[in-house]
Amino acid sequence: MLYIGIDLGTSAVKLLLMDGEGNIQKIVSKEYPIFFPNPGWSEQKPEDWFAKTMEGIKELIGEADKSQVAGISFGGQMHGLVILDEEDNVIRPALLWNDGRTYEECDYLNNEIGKEKLSEYTANISFTGFTAPKILWVKNKEPENFARISKIMLPKDYIAYKLTGVHCTDVSDASGMLLLDVKNRRWSKEMCNICGITEEMLPKLFESYECVGTVKEDIAARLGISTAVKVAAGAGDNAAAAVGTGTVGEGMCNISLGTSGTIFISSRNFGVDKFNALHAFAHADGNYHLMGCMLSAASCNKWWMEDILGTDAYEDEQKEITKLGENHVYFLPYLMGERSPHNNPNARGTFIGMTMDTSRADMTQAVLEGVAFALRDSLEVAKSLGIKLERTKICGGGAKSPLWKKMIANILNLKVDVIESEEGPALGGAMLAAVACGEFESVEAAAAGIVKIVDTVEPEPELVEKYEARYQQFREIYPACRPLFEIIK
Ligand code: XUL
Repeated sequence: MLYIGIDLGTSAVKLLLMDGEGNIQKIVSKEYPIFFPNPGWSEQKPEDWFAKTMEGIKELIGEADKSQVAGISFGGQMHGLVILDEEDNVIRPALLWNDGRTYEECDYLNNEIGKEKLSEYTANISFTGFTAPKILWVKNKEPENFARISKIMLPKDYIAYKLTGVHCTDVSDASGMLLLDVKNRRWSKEMCNICGITEEMLPKLFESYECVGTVKEDIAARLGISTAVKVAAGAGDNAAAAVGTGTVGEGMCNISLGTSGTIFISSRNFGVDKFNALHAFAHADGNYHLMGCMLSAASCNKWWMEDILGTDAYEDEQKEITKLGENHVYFLPYLMGERSPHNNPNARGTFIGMTMDTSRADMTQAVLEGVAFALRDSLEVAKSLGIKLERTKICGGGAKSPLWKKMIANILNLKVDVIESEEGPALGGAMLAAVACGEFESVEAAAAGIVKIVDTVEPEPELVEKYEARYQQFREIYPACRPLFEIIK
């Protein structure tokens, strides 16, 4: 049998075809535009997502035996607000996970409703990218649009809705809405009241590996597949990536170096970060996880290379970097503000420490190291909660760079296990579809059967020591700049 994994990302949708043994048959990627209508705003059109997903599926299964396609599922960019009216028209472009416009609504939620109450209702506090403050923003700033809302959903759920007609979501992605009672995996009535919405507007909740329905007749005809093809709820892209790297069960870690950068720690038990810096979410394997999310990770490198240096020769530029642990230049990677652990939409990207002999390679190195140092900030929060980690998996576009993996291993002092395929969320999505179709009895069984570690990058004690000293300097920079970020907006 064949399974389709759809990773609905920020720059593109990536589609992956997997057979029942977990072999990847084909990968297709289709880009769509992102709009920044105002500084700190970030939007996409759900119609673009669906059009490109359909195009992608057609290409993906073009030469395959279509009668073998049994299931479809997703990893989706999290937190995005998609709103439909009574006729199922998209009311306005989706507000994305890295959109920082909702600072007033976050201030209301965190300081007037109060962090304690939010944490009691949802296990989390409000961050600008989360969905509930976006709903409040539409209510406050676009009341005419708010009045038209009939259905609220997350990005990947729009695709599931178009494929099946079922208004559904899964508990991992729903966790990032600030509307879910994460511990009990059900909607929070209190949060619905606070946002002025009804539970009927929200999607039906499923576990990530559960089947929500089958493809509609018109969709099946357009794709040349059977109407018996099952669609599983899928997961937020980080939980799906965790499935795709085998980060399931107790105490496993995955780092994703995509547009965002995340550190994801799986757990069989529900737990909340008492500092509210890490997100406490449901996992796609039926359990829970903690996660730190930085808003710009591989995207910092892309910005530096393509927009500033004007090159796409990533490997060549990285070959010039020879002095690991000795760079005097630092980079704060806050190009879209920052989520974990600072929760500051006004934070900005910053270079500091240049001298007349600073080279292009030093600057490139600072960008890569800055992302790794910022991930370490979230790891430090996890450590302060008593979590002990020795190793991590890694996935996402940035994980293709051996140099970046080496920096991560030494800056975080973790063994970095490299997986046969870095296609985290798309592979995880296909695996969730396979579980929904009964190919594996659980997500953990699918991970055990499919995910293979092919290499481990070990931290080197001397380099760890050098980077420890550098990290202690790095962590002084943000607090010193914070007052400036309030002025230079
Ligand atoms: C996680 C987050 C990002 C997006 C990226 O909380 O906001 O990782 O899911 O697609």
